Amino acid sequence: MRELRDRVAVVTGAGSGIGRALSEVLAEAGMHVVAADLDLADAEAAAEAVRARERRGLAVEVDVTDRGAVEELARRSYEAFGACHLLCNNAGVLVMGTALAPVPEQWDWVVDVNLRGVLHGVQCFVPRMLAQGGPAHIVNTASMAGLAPSPRVAAYTASKYAVVGFSECLRIDLEEHGIGVSVVCPGGVKSRLFEGRHRPSDAPVLSSDDLAAVARAGSPDSAVLIDPERVARAVLDGVRDGDLYIVTHPQMRDQVEARCRDLLAAFDKAAARQGAPA
Ligand SMILES: NC(=O)c1ccc[n+]([C@@H]2O[C@H](COP(=O)([O-])OP(=O)(O)OC[C@H]3O[C@@H](n4cnc5c(N)ncnc54)[C@H](O)[C@@H]3O)[C@@H](O)[C@H]2O)c1
Repeated sequence: MRELRDRVAVVTGAGSGIGRALSEVLAEAGMHVVAADLDLADAEAAAEAVRARERRGLAVEVDVTDRGAVEELARRSYEAFGACHLLCNNAGVLVMGTALAPVPEQWDWVVDVNLRGVLHGVQCFVPRMLAQGGPAHIVNTASMAGLAPSPRVAAYTASKYAVVGFSECLRIDLEEHGIGVSVVCPGGVKSRLFEGRHRPSDAPVLSSDDLAAVARAGSPDSAVLIDPERVARAVLDGVRDGDLYIVTHPQMRDQVEARCRDLLAAFDKAAARQGAPA
């Protein structure tokens, strides 16, 4: 979707980090923005930042795990602006630890926010986007953790692989309707993600041991935390170019290459076992 000026964006998780930066960068590109977040005060601050850029900004409190609340977000967005041209399903949470570490409430939380939150956005907005007609686009926020495995992030990775797979299929299914789909897969970004705000139990979402294990596994380059604004600008470029995958850390290419190599090797091995040419 090349033309953004005077069009309408809805951003979830707009109160902080990548969502806040998206709200500002999209406003600078001429969009009106609905800034939605679990934290209404933070959503208000994002909407105010939009208005400071002389665009219309509306703050809405939403819990993306609650389908009814996301339906209400869609209703209020269309009531205020009459359209949604760009839906950014960005709200997300992190739980670290080995695959067996997260307690059931943490699994529910990470899957409910990261996967079901995206699903709810699509279910509540797409029927309205189809009815409004004209070009529209959806950006789902996954992660590098949705493209390649790392130690101590199994639950988060499971949710983000699901977002990548869902987005890939959604793009195919919506293509004939003129709605584009992108999935943004950032590496480390400076934000409040690591604070574990809004977590459902007292169990910590990460330990220094987890962080050390991740640091040992990755290259020093991959540990670099970038400003959220860089992610927002990459999203803007990706939306304009209609990209499926939007990545922000080219230095992390090796991890994806290694996974692809392993996958393709499995096909070669299967072919060899079956006596067929690879
Ligand atoms: N920070 C990183 O290193 C990084 C890397 C890759 C992907 N991501 C992804 O980027 C997205 C944004 O995260 P961030 O890094 O800006 O973190 P952040 O914690 O700074 O911002 C996330 C926002 O989402 C909101 N939120 C949390 N649960 C919610 C819910 N149930 N309903 C509505 N809003 C809710 C929070 O209040 C917060 O304002 C997430 O999907 C995250 O997984 C982050």
